[in-house]
Parts: sequence; structure tokens; C-alpha cells
Amino acid sequence: MADTGVQPGSVDGIVRRARAGGLAAWVIRLRSTAIVLHLDGRGLLHLGYWGADGGSWNADDYLVDALPDRETAPHFLEGRPLAYPAYGDPSYREPCLVVVQPDGERELALSFTADRLVKHAGRPMLELELRDPRAGVRLMHELLLYGELDLLVWTVHVANYGERPLTLERVLSGSLPLPAGRYDCWMLRGRWGGEFQLERQELGHGAFVIGSRRGISSAEAHPWLAIAPRGETAEHTGRVWFASLAWSGNWTAMVELERGETLAASVGLQPFDFAWHLEPGERFSAPALVLGHAVDGLGGAARRLHDLERTVALPAAHRSVVRPVLYNSWEATYFDVRADQQIALARRAAELGVELFVVDDGWFGARDHDRAGLGDWRVNRRKFPRGLRPLIDEVHRLGMLFGIWVEAEMVNPDSDLFRAHPDWAYLPPSREPLLSRNQLVLNFARADVRAAILDQLHALLTEDGRIDFLKWDHNRPWLHVGWPEHPDRGREAWVRHVLGLYELLQTLRAEFPELLIETCSSGGARADLGMLALTDQAWVSDNTDAADRLPIQYGYSHAHSPSTMVNWVTDVPNHQTGRVSPLEFRFHVAMQGVLGIGGNISRWSEEEVQQAQRLVADYKRIRTIVQLGEQYWLLPPPPVGPCAVQYVSPDRRAVVLLLYQVRGGVGAGVPRVRLMGLDPARRYRRERDGAESTGAALMAAGLPVRFEPTQGWHPAIDYRSALQVWHAIDAR
Ligand code: DGJ
Repeated sequence: MADTGVQPGSVDGIVRRARAGGLAAWVIRLRSTAIVLHLDGRGLLHLGYWGADGGSWNADDYLVDALPDRETAPHFLEGRPLAYPAYGDPSYREPCLVVVQPDGERELALSFTADRLVKHAGRPMLELELRDPRAGVRLMHELLLYGELDLLVWTVHVANYGERPLTLERVLSGSLPLPAGRYDCWMLRGRWGGEFQLERQELGHGAFVIGSRRGISSAEAHPWLAIAPRGETAEHTGRVWFASLAWSGNWTAMVELERGETLAASVGLQPFDFAWHLEPGERFSAPALVLGHAVDGLGGAARRLHDLERTVALPAAHRSVVRPVLYNSWEATYFDVRADQQIALARRAAELGVELFVVDDGWFGARDHDRAGLGDWRVNRRKFPRGLRPLIDEVHRLGMLFGIWVEAEMVNPDSDLFRAHPDWAYLPPSREPLLSRNQLVLNFARADVRAAILDQLHALLTEDGRIDFLKWDHNRPWLHVGWPEHPDRGREAWVRHVLGLYELLQTLRAEFPELLIETCSSGGARADLGMLALTDQAWVSDNTDAADRLPIQYGYSHAHSPSTMVNWVTDVPNHQTGRVSPLEFRFHVAMQGVLGIGGNISRWSEEEVQQAQRLVADYKRIRTIVQLGEQYWLLPPPPVGPCAVQYVSPDRRAVVLLLYQVRGGVGAGVPRVRLMGLDPARRYRRERDGAESTGAALMAAGLPVRFEPTQGWHPAIDYRSALQVWHAIDAR
């Protein structure tokens, strides 16, 4: 090695060595994945391989017959797997980095200067540094390994080490080049009331772009995607490369099929209206990008991301404990909340087995409707004459936790806050602002605005007794974003707002370590990995119709852990769709994650109360397996027909199976679903009737999606469901 100039080095999971030609290469190996980075003759970084582990620490073993550097045209980079294309390199790919120098020059000529193989918080990390001395740009890649989870977290920093200010116009979080081939992009698209729809898009020539310009990560597209070879990949089989961006604001994913059919997926901050001023000595960090590769399909990708959330990403206080069964008052009482009526709901909720009682919108300021009150986080004394204390005390006396709704980034023009500080909202400098849901967005880029809101929240959380839970809502996309105090830096506000929000949530968490927080944004418009690093769970859709929710929950659970997915059982006819489905079906759908109840339970019949009590008790027995076990979608939710999802405890001794008939297929046959993830050598017994089989047989022959005949219900009729629990019965 001595003659190559590359010093061999290693830390767990990362090896640096010279390739045959003498240029440096790094091989990263995770549980079942290998990643090969290497330099070319210009000092540019290539991502030569990312895929199944080949059992080797030798970069050349993964790069046999890879395209060599073109000696005749050394700057010809088209079709090459650049790890992070930048403006000015002749790859002609979407650049990840665009920096403008004071003289207007945008060319960058970055080349490798240093690496470090280190441990960061006990985890192996590869740091790679590239510099452009003329521009004064230092680019740092941090690749943090989660070997046991089979995931890598990529963070990019850009520093100004020159003497002149710079303007960053684009800093993406990473780019994944893939070999020539035909691929599909899987994504989570949607809309209000229909978030997280798992969709497949065939990638052809040109670029395929998704993202958000709404200020929030959005219901329209979720910052998660998976790329898979066409025809090869399904729920349980096939190769898949997947990415999840830990960011709650504007973002983009650009997937481009370029020269030589090569594909690259670049993900990060949305370049639309982004600019960031970087003084000498300053540094900008892009949001972290979680990347992985699986050979067990979209389900395998999902399980890796679930493990990441439950062991690393979610706030430590609650990440590995099951969430309480909650009640939320929104659909029961909307804005018409009153102390006595909420106390009555709380008593009924406690009877049902609820553990957390949440008062939604309407409890504060002049909030009798959505036209007033946002910004005034003081209890409405007409509705709660003695403040919140009597309700909080009663909820605690009943043995439940108490939670409350806020929408702290927003203000209604009809509020005391806005009347006192109109300049705290994003406003167009010389035009009438455009309202959405009668509200404006507060400028959370400003420290003084955040401090004032934090003061109000602090008072709320301390004055009337212990508040255990906050539902953190956000109900309008942003417009008029700017920063009047720094007009030349107004485009930073898109990012500064999100960073300000993160900082505020961190402060709250530090001060109230036991507080549970739920992220919400008109349903699931901001339930991303960025928010889930600071909140414990997510409201995934305002659509509470159980049948409509199946595809929403199916999609969400491909990106996030069931322990974060809150679902309510609400009344029928459903408030969003008018559909009627049985209480048991609604419960069984809501049991796929964190069970909540959101109906007007004060009006439930004695029979409904008793059925709900039984179903809540059923859920409490299975929730550890659902929330903390492994999830397998055995039959995805169809518009009409059967659906099945299964959960296995980490020790593989307990199995939960939820079966559904979405709508009746009269005369349709009964499909069988083969169970997954069981221990083949064990015997399992079904709780309900003592039926027995082996893990191997249950995975080979499976079980029919069949429902108990119930009086008045034909087995093929709409919206049937069943819960099966199986336990290993071997002593070992
Ligand atoms: C939107 C949320 O998604 C709902 O659950 C509810 O909290 C309303 N906002 C309240 O305004």
C-alpha cells in the first residue's frame, strides 16, 4: 500500500484502502448492505456501489469492469456515479450544491482533502471533506452508520472558510446514483383527507420530481421514497433503495434518468425560494437523510425504518414504551367545548379504558369558530369559568393523563396577539395578506416571536395543574414568507422557521421531559422524520372513516413506526364520508397503531360502551406487539375485498393478525394469507379457540381470511374484521 499514498484505516464497519490504481476507496458494511465510495483522478467522490453486502472489504471486488476514468477526456463525467454533484462539474446532473460568490461566480471545483474514520456517540462515522480554495467552500459529508439497523444517516455541511461572504442557493442532503436499468419510484402521495397513498411511478427518461413548497413537508408528498428495479420488487421481495428525509419544511426529491440510462435520486431542501447567506467562518448544515437498501421489498425497508424510530430517532423519553389509549374531543364537540361537558366525556372515556384525555381546539381565547383566537393561548373563562384545573384534576382523579391542543405557529387577525403585534406574522410588504382557514403564519424565524409563544405555552403547562400531552397542530400552508428585519435574507425564513420550531420543541421537551407531544397538520401534513425526532406520535389524517383510513395507515406505516400512528374510532355515519361501518371494524382498523377514540361517547349506547370496553381491553393485550413488534402487510388494502396485516413480537413468540373485509365481494372465494416472520420450529396456538400449528406450516399454508358468522351479517358483507392472537406454546 505504501506506494499508493493511501494509508489503510478502519473503524467498525468502515475500511479505507487504495484501489488497484492507487486511488483511495472506502467500503462501508452494514448488517446486509455494502457501500463503496471512491475518488477519481480529480479528487471527486464517486458512490460506486450501494447494495447487498458482497462479503468483501475490497472496493475493487464491487467494481469489476466499472467504467474507468477517461484518460483522453478526464473531465468527462456524464453517467458517472458522482456522490454529490455540484454546480460546475461536467456531470450535467441536477447539482446538489450551488454556491454564489460575491463576484457572481458559481463554478465550484471541489476536490477531496481529508477523511476521518471516527466514533460519534459510540457509532462509526466516516467524514469526508472536499474543498474549493478559490471559492472558500468546504464541503463535509458525515456518514453515520447504524449497522445493526442496516441504515446510514448522511449529513452534509457547507462551510465558508474564505474571506468573502457566500450565498448558498442549493444544498441538498444527498444523492444516490444507481446503475443503468429500469426502475420504479415508490412514494407517499396524497391530499387532505387522503394522505400517505403508496403509489408507484415508472421512471422513464427525464426527471421525476416530488416535494413541497408549502412550508410544511405536506400531505401532497411525504419526504420518503423508494426506488426499485421494475418488476422485481414487491411488498416482501426484491431490491429496494429507500430514503427518508428528517425535515419538516420545503423539500424535494428529484429522480433523473440521464446519460447512459443511469439514474440518480437527489433529496433535500427545496431549492425553490431558498437562499442562505454564509459569512466567513459560518457553516450551514443540511437536514439528515436516512438511506437504506433492502432485499426484502418495501416491507423490509419499512421494518428497518420502524427500528430506527423506536431505537434511535424518536425522543428518548417515550421511544420504547407503548403509547396510552387516548380520547380526543374534536369530532364530539368541535369548537363548542365546555368544562362540564368535557368532564362528562372524561368520565365516560375512563369507563371505556382510555388512559389519556385530550381536549382539542376551542378551549382558548375567543375561539368559538375558526375565525378568531389563534395566538391567545389563555383559557376561555366563559367556557371554563374556573380555568382548566377542575377538568385536569378530574381527569387525573379518573386515572388518566390530560392533554390539550395548540396551534402555536399560527395567528388569527382577530386575536389579541395580532392586534398587539401584526408584524409577527408573515405579511406581504405592500398587499393584503391571503388568509387560509382565516389565519396567518407567525414568523418563527424570529427569536422574539418564539420566546413570546414559549412564554404562553409555559404558562399553559404550569398554571392549572399538570398537562401531560400536547397536540401540536398546523393548519395552513405558508405564503408571504420573508424576514422584514433582514429584507436581503428573507428567503432564509423558510428554513429558519423550521429550525426555530425545532428549537422551541427542544426547549419544551427539556423543561417538561415527561410531556408527550403529537404532531398534526390538518391531519398528516407534517408527520415526517424531522417532527418525529421531537414528537412522540402523529395524527395521520382528518379522515376518520375506517375504510378510507386503511390505505392511509398502510402508506404511513411504510415510512414510520406503528407506535407513532394515532387512529381514532369515531361515530357513524362518519363525519367525512357519511359511511357506516360496524364499531368492531372501526376499532380493528384503529388498532393498527396507537388506539384513540374520537366519537361523542356521551351518546354511545350501553351496548356500544360494553363492546368498546371489550375492544379497548383486547387492544391493551396486543398493543406491545403492534407498536413495538415487526409489521407485515399480508394483503394490502383494496378498494373492495380482503386485507390483512400481521405483527410479531421481537422474540417471535406472539403473533397478532388483523383481518378485514373492506367491502363485500358476494360469492368471492376466501383467500389464504401466509404468515410471516414466525419461528418455523415453534408450535403456535390461537387464543380464541386453541387451534394449533407450527410456525413453518403457518408460513407455508397460511390461514383463510374468514370471519365469524354473526347474526344479521353474512360473512361476505361489507366491513367485517377479525383479530387473531397466536402464542408460541413450546417451553423453550
Ligand atoms: C386539524 C386537525 O387535524 C384536527 O384533528 C383538529 O385538531 C382540528 N385541526 C382543530 O382545528
